[in-house]
Amino acid sequence: TWTMLNIAEEQIERVREQIGDSGLAICGLSGGVDSAVAAAIVQRAIGDRLHCVFVDHGLLREGEAEQVERDFVAATGVNLHVYDAQEAFLTALAGVTDPEEKRKIIGREFIRAFEAAEATVLGEAAEQGEKVGFLVQGTLYPDVVESGGGAGTSNIKSHHNVGGLPEDLEFALVEPLRTLFKDEVRLVGEQLGLPAEMVWRQPFPGPGLGIRIIGEVTADRLDILRRADAIARQELTRAGLDRDIWQMPVVLLADVRSVGVQGDGRTYGHPVVIRPVTSEDAMTADWARLPYEVMERISTRITNEVEEINRVTLDITSKPPGTIEWE
Ligand code: XMP
Repeated sequence: TWTMLNIAEEQIERVREQIGDSGLAICGLSGGVDSAVAAAIVQRAIGDRLHCVFVDHGLLREGEAEQVERDFVAATGVNLHVYDAQEAFLTALAGVTDPEEKRKIIGREFIRAFEAAEATVLGEAAEQGEKVGFLVQGTLYPDVVESGGGAGTSNIKSHHNVGGLPEDLEFALVEPLRTLFKDEVRLVGEQLGLPAEMVWRQPFPGPGLGIRIIGEVTADRLDILRRADAIARQELTRAGLDRDIWQMPVVLLADVRSVGVQGDGRTYGHPVVIRPVTSEDAMTADWARLPYEVMERISTRITNEVEEINRVTLDITSKPPGTIEWE
């Protein structure tokens, strides 16, 4: 719309003024909408002087890394550096089952990987006689107001936001979303032609699928969960419900097995839990009354298409007392 066009243009102009005619900026992409829109605005303002970094930690859902590496780049033309840290994350997470321990490790590994990627960018810039003076962050207005405790966080768990970046005082912060609310950010994202899946993505925790596998996180388990989650999301979208449902985590109970029957044979597979919720701000939530046909499709498809899963269960707990995530 006209107003949103104004907002986008206004922010682009402000960034241009702040950064000026020389100097480079760096921006970490998480796969989420905030960092993507912030980067797109800065790209419009300073072009290739913006260097984006994407740490692929292997904990995103199916298609999400490609969305950043392929679709986002195609839509915006950003200068993207991909840092593949999947092995490092898996190694660091090996044997770990405690949720808070997982969060700490993921947060630590993320900073480590980002700093390594950042060092490469800084080094390349130095070789060209250039200096990276700015760090772009997707801070929203509610984050500014609540100074740190942004939407989608609570005090009960130590939320490390993987989209967040280590503090570095040598950089000046560029925060093009600082005056915007989430819905405005989405509209600006649409205006700038970002992929719809990114713009309309439901909230997703920084530690990603790492806290949706109950038990140790392994490559095989991630693969199983990713396939089940992709089906659940497809069916929610197909039913036209993904904007009504706040979030729908799919949780793999990786250490639980149950007996099932498939064809002539007995199976001994894992259950997944589907956790659709409605919410305004993630502080409280209600379990969503999904239509039976949607639940049926999700259940049938997951058990048919994901061999390792032989049971689909539904979480009907509100928050409180349950949290949205299982870990
Ligand atoms: P809970 O599970 O506490 O989640 O009801 C509330 C909201 O926060 C998200 N969440 C996280 N986000 N890092 C994040 O960036 C985290 O460690 C984390 N844990 C939960 C959750 O998806 C929901 O939107």
